Amino acid sequence: MERQKVKNCIDSGGNFCPCNLAYSNDCIRCNMLNNNNCCDCVWQGVCILNTLNHNKLYKPNERKQYLCKIVENKEIEKDVYLMKINIPNELSKDLYRPGSYVMLKSKEKNSDIFNTPISVMDIENDILEVVIRSVGPKTKAIVKSSELYVKGPYFNGIFGLENINKAFNEKCMLILSGLSQVNAIKVVKKLIDNNRVDVFINSDGILIDEVTNKIKDLGANIYYFDINDLEVIRGHIKENNIGLVYCASNLAVSKIIRDIVDSIDDTIKLSISNNNLICCGEGMCGACGIEINGEIVKTCKSQIDSRIFLDAKFK
Ligand code: FES
Repeated sequence: MERQKVKNCIDSGGNFCPCNLAYSNDCIRCNMLNNNNCCDCVWQGVCILNTLNHNKLYKPNERKQYLCKIVENKEIEKDVYLMKINIPNELSKDLYRPGSYVMLKSKEKNSDIFNTPISVMDIENDILEVVIRSVGPKTKAIVKSSELYVKGPYFNGIFGLENINKAFNEKCMLILSGLSQVNAIKVVKKLIDNNRVDVFINSDGILIDEVTNKIKDLGANIYYFDINDLEVIRGHIKENNIGLVYCASNLAVSKIIRDIVDSIDDTIKLSISNNNLICCGEGMCGACGIEINGEIVKTCKSQIDSRIFLDAKFK
């Protein structure tokens, strides 16, 4: 297996690189900085070791949190809230990227144990839009709050980002099911100018009108399907010569879609939403680790080939 397919760090070469992991010799990208003393990153435009050597007298650049006002909060389904939050421009300018997410916590719960990773649904004029299901102490506090701490930006909400970022003249198919559908808006924005985009939404799950309407307005073709009858998905991929599939759903559905895609042509590019557990989002706590070829890989920071991720061992 090509090593770089498994462990590309989403932050490498960006504003938050080198991060605390590099400073503690736990870098997920640079083997010179994780005690293996072997230079084999296959140059990707940055030498993290060299950057660290230039910066090590300084502290790593860490993500900031901002106290932000909620400008709209509406319950769109039982215990599901669409929230619009006014955030500073220095944060919003990085959240247009497909797969971006933030950590939210209520103003009243200003302790990091309340940090909750939430996908960015959309970002316009410094207004951050998110959808939150209120299920536990963290999310219940968020939906009741009038101000929130917003920390970010984080980027690894999708595996196979390169497929999306590099797509050109491609026939793309997005398959959306459940709350993961919210991160499709930025994917459509990225693809729509240079590709055909067909979006299939599971009619047997939650339907969020705001998501559907935005996708329609962007010019994508919308279809509905029933998760219990996936022949329509198989037929569409086959008949339309689809070259890129993006599945935003839970692990079980992503595996089913992978199997359908591979049964047609296993060279079709496959990207999926990252629905794995995320706690710190910084590679520090280990909560998101999965096992690939006997090695623990931190999914909050590692860009992993979607097919390899789906075959990994989960805790
Ligand atoms: S969420 Fe903490 S290491 Fe990934």
